[in-house]
Amino acid sequence: MTAPLAATRCDRTAAWAALQAHFAAEGEGFDVRQAFAADAADTSLGAKRFANFSQQAPHVFADLSKNLIDEQTESLLQTLAQQCGLEAQRDAMFAGEKINTTEQRAVMHFLLRQPAQQAGDQPQPWHEALAQVHSTLSAMLAYAEQVRADERITDVVNIGIGGSDLGPQMAVLALAEFSIPGKRFHFVSNVDGHELAGILSQLDAEKTLFLVASKTFTTTETMTNALSAKRWFEAQLGAAAAPKIARHFAALTTNVAAAQAFGISSTFGFWDWVGGRYSLMSAIGLPLAISIGAVGFKEFLAGAHAMDEHFRTAPAARNVPIRLGLLDVWYRNFHGFSSRSLAPYHSALQRLPAYLQQLEMESNGKRVDRTGAALPFDTAPVLWGEPGTNGQHAYFQMLHQGTDVVPVEFVAVKKATHSLLGHHDKLLANVLAQAQALMLGQVDAGGHRHFPGNRPSTFLLLDELTPASLGALIALQEHRVFVSGAIWGINSFDQWGVELGKMLAKDVEARLASGEVSGLDASTAGLLQKLRA
Ligand code: F6P
Repeated sequence: MTAPLAATRCDRTAAWAALQAHFAAEGEGFDVRQAFAADAADTSLGAKRFANFSQQAPHVFADLSKNLIDEQTESLLQTLAQQCGLEAQRDAMFAGEKINTTEQRAVMHFLLRQPAQQAGDQPQPWHEALAQVHSTLSAMLAYAEQVRADERITDVVNIGIGGSDLGPQMAVLALAEFSIPGKRFHFVSNVDGHELAGILSQLDAEKTLFLVASKTFTTTETMTNALSAKRWFEAQLGAAAAPKIARHFAALTTNVAAAQAFGISSTFGFWDWVGGRYSLMSAIGLPLAISIGAVGFKEFLAGAHAMDEHFRTAPAARNVPIRLGLLDVWYRNFHGFSSRSLAPYHSALQRLPAYLQQLEMESNGKRVDRTGAALPFDTAPVLWGEPGTNGQHAYFQMLHQGTDVVPVEFVAVKKATHSLLGHHDKLLANVLAQAQALMLGQVDAGGHRHFPGNRPSTFLLLDELTPASLGALIALQEHRVFVSGAIWGINSFDQWGVELGKMLAKDVEARLASGEVSGLDASTAGLLQKLRA
């Protein structure tokens, strides 16, 4: 299959010029408070800003109305999307075309949550791949159920990094309410041995299952940790260890041969068309499947699929991933905002910012277009954040009164699952109040008490935090990242920027052992000598 037709570079479209003119005329001085006030005053139309800029998508209600946009902004952004061929690019992904052009790979994480082919369905180019997805999913879920039923296993240790760690870790924490009692989940990612040593010291080898998660099965951190875990297991059990490896180690990887060469016979595969940061719904999700069970995992996939269908079929103007992705472009390229803060108001979503950081910054942190030509405009913002209300007592000061404007994305959950009195009302009151305070400010106060206000925020609301709603929230974020990447014309699915450091680390490791500093810059040489002294 061929790569999709090259779209016009976004900054060369007529819509981009129109957006620049709109920004200069109205966007720069836009005041969202006045927009709400004008809306309320217009009795012929009724209050429509909230209605126009919010909508229900599968499992997620999105309110964009506190952002620095009006109808003209959104309409021009929609024109930009058309002129950049956004829908054709989206359709190319869903058709299984090789849109990851630098690696000549299709990008089909949506297939991981696609229901099995039904008789009478239109034949699709990815028909074979879908059959493999379902047979692997069945095997993985059967294994998950077997582990759940095995009372001798009390501890599951996931060894992986990046996409092979952040997703399962985030999701297991997020859905802890649904977790099987009697099993603990641990996540080891860092090559820093303090992490693995700290976890091993809590474990009994006979009761532990190690999952070695690595798409490539070559990542230094993961291979180093996996080897140490295996050595520890062998040291703990002595001669009894060898026959038990099969029951106590499993590998989740596209490189099944390497896992087998490492001595792991229980393997669950996935495919090169699943990017590492998009792999949570593949075999990489095994820790989550063990935690919440096959039924829960299927609900998780179904939630994501519902969002995929929304992204694939809803008209662009009422398509939440498209609206959010275009808003990201508006803020980055016209307002010049260089970061976005994510504030999940649910303690179980504590790892969501880290997960989304990889998703967005590894996908869109690029400075060249798909052909490798340098881009003259900004791409991915810095994404950062902490759960609320904690952030309020730390960096929210800067969000309210600092010199930079940082759009905030709130994520709130309507229903709590605990029965502690008063907590959830206070939590929800706080998230609403923060969004309100950012927007309204306190303009009649002077000096230190002055809040400029007009600070934008988006509000994503889930009814409940369930496997299905988490799946939908993740798919929403994947697709909004697709949208901004597609507008910018970059390849959101490679990550060449991680390679240089990996290569240099190999050289430095050898030099740390030998003390050879010739050819090094003076700073690296000086530090290396200090480390060896
Ligand atoms: O180095 C970056 C990266 O390749 C990520 O893209 C990936 O999620 C992570 O490393 C882990 O890779 P693997 O799953 O192959 O071990």
